[in-house]
This record gives sequence, C-alpha cells and structure tokens, in this order.
Amino acid sequence: MAETVLAVKDLCKTFRKDGVETEAVKNVSFGLSEGEILGIAGESGSGKSTLSRLCMGLIRPDSGEIYICGERLGKDTVKSLRPKIQMVFQNPADTFNPAYSVGAGLMGAGSYLGIEKQLCREKISGLLKTTGLQESVLKRRPKELSGGQLQRLAIVRALLCEPRVLIADEAVSSLDVSVSANIINLLSDLRESLGIAMLFISHDLALIGHISDRVGVMYKGSLVETGAAEELLRSPSHEYTKRLLDARL
Ligand SMILES: Nc1ncnc2c1ncn2[C@@H]1O[C@H](COP(=O)(O)OP(=O)(O)OP(=O)(O)O)[C@@H](O)[C@H]1O
Ligand SMILES: [Mg+2]
Repeated sequence: MAETVLAVKDLCKTFRKDGVETEAVKNVSFGLSEGEILGIAGESGSGKSTLSRLCMGLIRPDSGEIYICGERLGKDTVKSLRPKIQMVFQNPADTFNPAYSVGAGLMGAGSYLGIEKQLCREKISGLLKTTGLQESVLKRRPKELSGGQLQRLAIVRALLCEPRVLIADEAVSSLDVSVSANIINLLSDLRESLGIAMLFISHDLALIGHISDRVGVMYKGSLVETGAAEELLRSPSHEYTKRLLDARL
C-alpha cells in the first residue's frame, strides 16, 4: 500500500483580530498518499491558504495534528521536516528577492536547506532541464523574467531538496492560459517521474478536475466533501459543491 506522506487530523485555526474571530480552518482531516494529487477547491476566504500554511509549519494550529511521512509536525520538527514538504505560491515574483539574480536566490535556498554548494549547482542544472529552462536565466533578476519562467524557477526551488509533498497554492492563477497549461503539465509529469504527492489548490474546479486524483471542497473553514475527482465533479453530494459547480457554468 502507498505510504501516507501527509496526514492531517482534526486541524483547527482561528484568527483573532480587532475583536473579530475568524474560524479559518475547522476540524479538517485528510490523508495524502505518495504520488497522489489532491485538489482543494473553495471560494475566496474558505481557508485554503491557511490550511497550506499550517501544513508547511508557517503558522501553528490551535489544535489538531499534522504528520509528514509519519512524523508529527511541531515546534521541534518544523525545520527538519521542511525538506520533505515544499510550496509554490500564487505570485511567482514573491518567491525571489528582486535585488539578486535568481541563480543567487536558488543557491541561497539550497544553503538554507543544508545542500552543499557543488551538489546544489548540479541539482539546479538538472531541474532547469526538467522544467524546460535555459541556464542563462540564472543570471537574470526576477523583473527580467516572465511570470511563466519565474513560476518554473519557483518549482525548481521547491524541488531542490527532493520533497515528498508539494503544495501548489493558486500556483497558476496569475499566469495566462497557455503558460498555465504548461505548468500544469509540468506538475503532472513531476508526479509521474518523481512520485511527488501534491496538494493542488485552486478556485478553478475544471482545472482541479483535470489534474487531481481526488478533490476536497472547503467551505467556511470545513472540508465539506472529498471524493474521486471524476465522481465528485459528476455527482457532487454537498449542496455547496453543487453551487460551486453551477457558478462555473
Ligand atoms: N493572518 C490572518 N489574520 C486574520 N485573519 C486571517 C489571517 N489569514 C487569513 N485570515 C482569514 O481567514 C479566512 C481564510 O483565509 P484564507 O486566506 O485561508 O482563504 P483562501 O481560501 O485561501 O482564500 P483565497 O481563495 O482568496 O486565497 C479569511 O476570512 C481570512 O480573512
Ligand atoms: Mg488563498
């Protein structure tokens, strides 16, 4: 049986600001197997990014548990588990410091992850080939590259440490249709060739249906429905999923 690389149990996170409480994530539980793509859909504010940030250990839950490759994520393990779980963000420009070349940015990320310099250079070269980029992009600063090139470089950065789980949070939303299709194909290929599991988060249900094995639907912080992608999109059982599908038409 495939290994469970990410397991989330009864996860809760409430934000408190100016006397207002927002239950961003409410009792969310799911498992993600090696090589599986779980799509997460849901309207704006439903808690998708909060869930991603919790799984990355960027913020701490109020209650509940997160296991990465069987090890519990917590204060003491967040740094040692970081190489196993990586994330690609919505805006590729946010991934790299505008003051440095992207090559320097990638080497800096490698150093943070404890990857020795020469090995890091070799990994970057290999990943540039995998993602269809030329070595010459490394000398450029972020503003001298297109959104598609930058998002590919963000993927290179995320893959430097050979993670078991990749979280793509609206990773193609800022790109035009053809570039977005290329990135989606790239992510699918990476799953095939490297067996990486993915949480693929998007507003776009059609896109989610296309790339995912299973789909989870978030509504007001809760995971209201999960199921095999084709089945869930064909015959959703939750009222909210039906509305989300209707809104798409
Ligand atoms: N740091 C924070 N402080 C206070 N409230 C927050 C914080 N981060 C998120 N929230 C609130 O938590 C809820 C969930 O936000 P989240 O960003 O997870 O939604 P989302 O599903 O990713 O939305 P979108 O599709 O627009 O990206 C929202 O109501 C948001 O305003
Ligand atoms: Mg979000």
